[in-house]
Amino acid sequence: MSGKGKDSLLGNKIAAGLLTAGLIFWGANRIAGTLVPDEAPKTPAIKITALPTASAPVAAVAAGLESIIPLIATGDVAKGEAFVQQQCSACHTLTPGGAAGVGPNLYGFMGAPMFSGSFAYSDAVKDKAKGNWNYDNVNAWLAAPQTFAPGTGMSYPGIKDTQMRADVVAYLRTLSATPLPLPSAAEVSAATAAAAAPAGAPASTPAPAAEAAPSIDSLFATADLAKGKALVMQQCAACHTFTKGGAAGVGPNLYGIVGAKAFSAPGFGYSAAVKAKAGAAWTDDTLSAWLENPMGYAPGTMMAYPGIKNAQTRADVIAYLNSNSASPEKLP
Ligand code: HEC
Ligand code: HEC
Repeated sequence: MSGKGKDSLLGNKIAAGLLTAGLIFWGANRIAGTLVPDEAPKTPAIKITALPTASAPVAAVAAGLESIIPLIATGDVAKGEAFVQQQCSACHTLTPGGAAGVGPNLYGFMGAPMFSGSFAYSDAVKDKAKGNWNYDNVNAWLAAPQTFAPGTGMSYPGIKDTQMRADVVAYLRTLSATPLPLPSAAEVSAATAAAAAPAGAPASTPAPAAEAAPSIDSLFATADLAKGKALVMQQCAACHTFTKGGAAGVGPNLYGIVGAKAFSAPGFGYSAAVKAKAGAAWTDDTLSAWLENPMGYAPGTMMAYPGIKNAQTRADVIAYLNSNSASPEKLP
């Protein structure tokens, strides 16, 4: 193969990776809004209409997504179970014969025909119901449901961390009388070889880590509290309460969070992923890094939120969070 051919192939891979990351982020951002269930929704809150670039999203995911096949056998089933209990069981039952909820019962789905249980599936997934669930298609589905099947009723942003997807699938496969066999040695080496092929290329989907985040100090002068509050109510209130003494939800209460000790709300069961970062006071810069990319800041965190990529929007949100306190900090 000529060097030129290789380069353009690499270029294509990078382009596909960027496209995928963009689609995943764009999709997840749209969905984050739908995660706000004021009343328990029996039907998915919002039917998301087609993505503008709906033509090739599945292929893009397949090309840019890290395989979980090498990680299944050593996946942490207990961690996967805890994650599923926390993030999926609001919509799915997991026991044999469990009733459908917002989503279908998941007992025994691995290895079974896709989207074919007794459930009123959306039209969006009917097109995708080709073949049976296996480790590759479940990986793509769970990484970004809205990219896999644009318009799906599953209002869930996806699991961006590859190890976490592997842990979740390692657990999901056990929910069966006859679990799907673990990937064979041959399948593992094929997946490993495919991943190693673009040597030197940037890793596929993981978003840039927190170190890339420049300070947002200069943006507080122009911060818009009302905008910050609106975004928080729309994108964060499904999981967090903001009033003084408010109960923990999926995430901890956030009254007075700016300047408070990170990941230290009494009684809240934080993930192991954030424990190493617990104790230091939240500053505008550490909050900015966390909110830009929770999974990059604390890989494996339970905060299933893709992040706020726009720096001014982060400043708006942090300025609002800071105002939501008995003793607001002085922001730059
Ligand atoms: C907000 C509700 C909601 C959450 C949270 C949710 N799902 Fe779903 N899920 C759905 C809906 C609705 C469908 C059906 C999709 C459709 O019809 O478009 C679905 C479908 C599925 C399917 C396909 C099952 C089949 O019958 O083929 C799997 C697998 C699945 N979800 C796994 C998960 C996992 C794992 C999680 C957590 C990481 C999760 N879901 C979180 C609502 C949800
Ligand atoms: C899907 C649920 C979910 C959404 C949506 C969500 N969070 Fe979280 N958040 C969590 C969880 C869970 C944690 C605890 C993280 C852990 O233990 O890994 C957390 C932790 C935090 C913390 C650290 C709290 C502490 O005790 O130090 C902050 C700050 C935070 N979230 C802010 C936000 C903001 C702002 C938004 C919206 C832009 C948001 N979150 C959206 C679930 C969520």
